[in-house]
Amino acid sequence: MIPTILLGTANIPNNGGELRLTQRANEFVIGLKGTPGELMTSRVHTSELALAALGCAHIQGVENAKVLVGGMGMGFTLAAALKATTLSAEVIVAELVPDIIEWNKGPLGECAGWPLDDQRASVHLGDVAALFKTNLATYDVILLDVDNGPEAFTHDDNSNLYSMESLHAIHQTLHPKGMLAVWSAWHDPSFTKKLKKAQFNVSVKTVRAHKGKGSKHTIYLAQK
Ligand SMILES: C[S@@+](CC[C@H](N)C(=O)[O-])C[C@H]1O[C@@H](n2cnc3c(N)ncnc32)[C@H](O)[C@@H]1O
Repeated sequence: MIPTILLGTANIPNNGGELRLTQRANEFVIGLKGTPGELMTSRVHTSELALAALGCAHIQGVENAKVLVGGMGMGFTLAAALKATTLSAEVIVAELVPDIIEWNKGPLGECAGWPLDDQRASVHLGDVAALFKTNLATYDVILLDVDNGPEAFTHDDNSNLYSMESLHAIHQTLHPKGMLAVWSAWHDPSFTKKLKKAQFNVSVKTVRAHKGKGSKHTIYLAQK
């Protein structure tokens, strides 16, 4: 039997929860202590890649684009955002849990091909929501995958991220025609309504979790 090895644990800031990183053969899993199932596995990541590919489609070939990725996880979305943008792009990844960044500089780095080593990538350690308080048009694309969807999962505070107030703030931090793309494990039509109320033009895509099979995930594409 292939053993499961615990590689590390991490406290979620201001939350009391604990993330656990395990490895079984060449599969890595991030789980939340006390919660069944996994937050993320390296084996299944097609929809995390699609989040960036769909969210960045309108800036293909655009110079000096600025992209914000909310949630490092295993780095798949960050890597796909770097792939989808030009060499002059700037891609900032906001991550709440410092250990997640350390894991990506260590054992998790190989999952997505070491995206943090790309000179265009930089890290904002802390809550992604803090970056929306400026109300200044800053980003061409905002890619959010900080939870299971527009409902708090890892962190109660994340429910605020999808409030009307926050969606208005996100709208303001996007450049004209800028895109907010949100990953979700389910489709919630009321979130589409909320995005429209916040003045976004919305389309919803369904993406399979793993190479055309597995669970169906939802990507909300909300353009300013
Ligand atoms: C499901 S994972 C992201 C997976 C990522 N898309 C990938 O390709 O691997 C969610 C990540 O968001 C982080 N996170 C949760 N809430 C956050 C917040 N409010 N601000 C920044 N990062 C957050 C978690 O610590 C975790 O690393």
